[in-house]
Amino acid sequence: MGPYANLLVDCADGLAVLTVNRPDKLNALNGETLDALAEFFAEAGTSGDVSAVIVTGAGEKSFIAGADIEEVSGFTPLEGRQWGLRGQALLHQIESLEKPVIAAINGFVLGGGLELAMACHVRVTSSNARLGQPELKLGIVPGFGGTQRLPRIVGKGLALELLLTGDPIDAQRALEIGLVNRVVEPECLMAEAKRLAARILRNGPLAISLTLQAVNRGMEMPLAEALEWEVAQYALSCATEDVKEGTRAFLEKRPPRFRGR
Ligand code: COA
Repeated sequence: MGPYANLLVDCADGLAVLTVNRPDKLNALNGETLDALAEFFAEAGTSGDVSAVIVTGAGEKSFIAGADIEEVSGFTPLEGRQWGLRGQALLHQIESLEKPVIAAINGFVLGGGLELAMACHVRVTSSNARLGQPELKLGIVPGFGGTQRLPRIVGKGLALELLLTGDPIDAQRALEIGLVNRVVEPECLMAEAKRLAARILRNGPLAISLTLQAVNRGMEMPLAEALEWEVAQYALSCATEDVKEGTRAFLEKRPPRFRGR
């Protein structure tokens, strides 16, 4: 896979570690990087070599410090709309990937960086991280889904506090409000993200993919429809070889050998 502009990709044992690599700009997202991320996730979605993705930022200071302010300053309304749509499409692509995506948040995760992290399925965070949506400090509105995913994750009141003040919170507070899943010391971050990925990948690959779809699409539906959607995924999983292997392995008291069929 690759090479991609401003990205490093290290792929081994089904796990792709994707590093946004603009450390001089705290890994801020410019247009070239958005395009490269879209290209990477399109390939990761179809590649037989990738079963899960970890996203992180280069250097010790920052995951992603938001959109590249130099590039986005001075946008006309039309350019701003196109930029927002471009970012939203990328984040939808990440969220709807049928393979687990884990954000390993190393330091600043601000603006578009937090919006990207919120589109990932799980967030592991270093204890020195600072998380926030500082857009209002710049006089603009978040445009990569921050006004929508943040309240869905932490609730409307806390989301509005974060959005309206623009002030960042620390990792411990982010854990308390459910914005991140785990907090670990910086030197343990990648090991913890990899451990979590390995833990997930021990499960049936088709059931992982169907569960991601059940949750992601179901969350957008009224409950009755969402439950129908869930039962459709459940029924589909009943048709797989994996379910036969998983249940047989349990009864035979041995670990399953899933083949993703
Ligand atoms: N866009 C473009 N460049 C950025 C950036 C961004 N979002 N965030 C940081 N940078 C650049 C800085 O301009 C600086 O570049 P320089 O060395 O060429 O001057 C470099 O990254 C290092 O950042 P610096 O501000 O010197 O580091 P710091 O430790 O003093 O502060 C932050 C770190 C994250 C608090 C600060 O950089 C910041 O507030 N960034 C903007 C965050 C933001 O508003 N994001 C939302 C954008 S919509």
